Amino acid sequence: MHQTNKELEAAAKRNMDFAKLFLLLPILLSALSNLEYSTAQSFNCSSPIGCRALVGYITVNNTNLGAIQSLFNVKNLRNLLGANNLPLYTPRNHTIPAQQVIKVPINCVCYNNTGTSSGAPIYKVQAGDGLDHIATEVFSRLVQFRQIQAANGIPDPDLITPGQELKIPLPCSCDDVDGERVVHYAHMVKSGSSLEEIAREFGTDEETLAKINGIKAENELIANQPIDVPLKACNSSITTDSLDYPLLASNGTYVFTANGCVRCTCDAASNWTLNCEPSGNKPSKWDACPPMQCEGLSLGSSNTSGCNRSTCSYAGFNNSIIFTSLVQDSSCSTSSPSNDVSRISLNWDFLSILFLFSFHLFQ
Ligand SMILES: *[C@@H]1O[C@H](CO)[C@@H](O)[C@H](O)[C@H]1NC(C)=O
Ligand SMILES: *[C@@H]1O[C@H](CO)[C@@H](O)[C@H](O)[C@H]1NC(C)=O
Ligand SMILES: *[C@@H]1O[C@H](CO)[C@@H](O)[C@H](O)[C@H]1NC(C)=O
Ligand SMILES: *[C@@H]1O[C@H](CO)[C@@H](O)[C@H](O)[C@H]1NC(C)=O
Ligand SMILES: *[C@@H]1O[C@H](CO)[C@@H](O)[C@H](O)[C@H]1NC(C)=O
Ligand SMILES: *[C@@H]1O[C@H](CO)[C@@H](O)[C@H](O)[C@H]1NC(C)=O
Ligand SMILES: *[C@@H]1O[C@H](CO)[C@@H](O)[C@H](O)[C@H]1NC(C)=O
Ligand SMILES: *[C@@H]1O[C@H](CO)[C@@H](O)[C@H](O)[C@H]1NC(C)=O
Ligand SMILES: *[C@@H]1O[C@H](CO)[C@@H](O)[C@H](O)[C@H]1NC(C)=O
Ligand SMILES: *[C@@H]1O[C@H](CO)[C@@H](O)[C@H](O)[C@H]1NC(C)=O
Repeated sequence: MHQTNKELEAAAKRNMDFAKLFLLLPILLSALSNLEYSTAQSFNCSSPIGCRALVGYITVNNTNLGAIQSLFNVKNLRNLLGANNLPLYTPRNHTIPAQQVIKVPINCVCYNNTGTSSGAPIYKVQAGDGLDHIATEVFSRLVQFRQIQAANGIPDPDLITPGQELKIPLPCSCDDVDGERVVHYAHMVKSGSSLEEIAREFGTDEETLAKINGIKAENELIANQPIDVPLKACNSSITTDSLDYPLLASNGTYVFTANGCVRCTCDAASNWTLNCEPSGNKPSKWDACPPMQCEGLSLGSSNTSGCNRSTCSYAGFNNSIIFTSLVQDSSCSTSSPSNDVSRISLNWDFLSILFLFSFHLFQ
């Protein structure tokens, strides 16, 4: 039997329409069955602007920083170093043993009240991979296979092909917590750990952890799942129209910004103030770094006059310039009242000792 080209085309089209329907049905079904799974692991996020967040990757085998950098598509090694407070000269082939936690910086965006990593990581399927292996081993359970399935519109989780590129939707958030700027950290809960322990380790409190994770009772803390841990961020002078706004960094980390021209360090000991200075790096988008000065003071430096101090602070960047801001603070006005305060508290201590003493006497 002989078919004309037209007939063949029509037949092919019918088959394709049928195939499309056939493909769509499981997507719809899996989207429905996904709901209970995805809400268990995703973080609430409603901020209109994106931000920087962290995920705690647990290494499966012995590996090195370069391998982790490429797995998560972190643009520069220095960003990975900064998130882990490793010295800048740490080489790419620096060995990381199995079962170690490495903080990986990601770009986060909120969509539909949920935060996910934006753009990266993209994972290229290897021969022999299954979605579950990718979720539980390669990405150390930071994500569930159903979330990868949903993010990539994969109808059948058993049907992925080597070479296929998958978006990995890592959990994150950009929301302020109790009016404070924080870096959201996706921490993998170890079996046997408690909210109290996690709160203590990361300098937050149990109530906050329970609230933002929707945990009502201690037994709702599930091991081997990520929990949203808000890490207090350093204050900065960043302006809302800066391209890197809100520039979040947590204690003990450093970040590079303004196309690599500026390095900012967050140290709780410096009164939670972000400390930025020229990085000395070659910029990524500009031929040379634009000037980083405030009226004669260079970025990051201070001058003092008596008890007054002016610091040239980083305030952001746009496509052509780096913004700075001269921040004034003074130790004169704060030192004398604080002396008064300590004198008053001494008096109170004295009074309370007297009070306790008399209490004992009257018993
Ligand atoms: C890393 O690479 C350098 C030179 O490329 C080499 O000398 C060093 O031994 C390597 N270190 C590790 C841990 O592989
Ligand atoms: C947004 O999330 C809700 C539940 O969390 C879900 O029912 C809805 O389908 C989602 N909408 C989109 C556009 O993804
Ligand atoms: C870890 O090593 C084992 C044994 O070599 C291998 O089968 C497994 O795929 C590795 N896992 C990852 C995530 O690389
Ligand atoms: C997350 O957001 C949803 C919708 O706004 C809300 O119902 C839920 O209580 C929030 N969960 C937490 C843990 O804040
Ligand atoms: C951060 O800066 C804001 C505005 O300058 C100020 O209101 C707030 O108290 C500061 N927070 C800390 C922790 O220093
Ligand atoms: C800040 O981080 C340093 C280590 O980098 C640590 O010693 C210190 O206790 C931390 N401070 C707070 C308040 O978290
Ligand atoms: C710490 O920062 C706060 C708010 O930015 C400021 O009011 C306070 O004076 C600072 N304290 C010191 C000792 O610098
Ligand atoms: C410090 O600044 C205040 C006002 O900001 C000013 O009145 C005072 O004279 C200054 N003190 C010194 C020593 O410069
Ligand atoms: C520091 O230098 C700047 C720029 O020259 C000047 O505006 C500021 O008043 C100086 N601050 C102090 C405390 O001397
Ligand atoms: C960058 O900011 C400066 C000062 O606000 C402005 O004059 C300039 O037009 C801005 N450039 C771009 C490319 O947005």
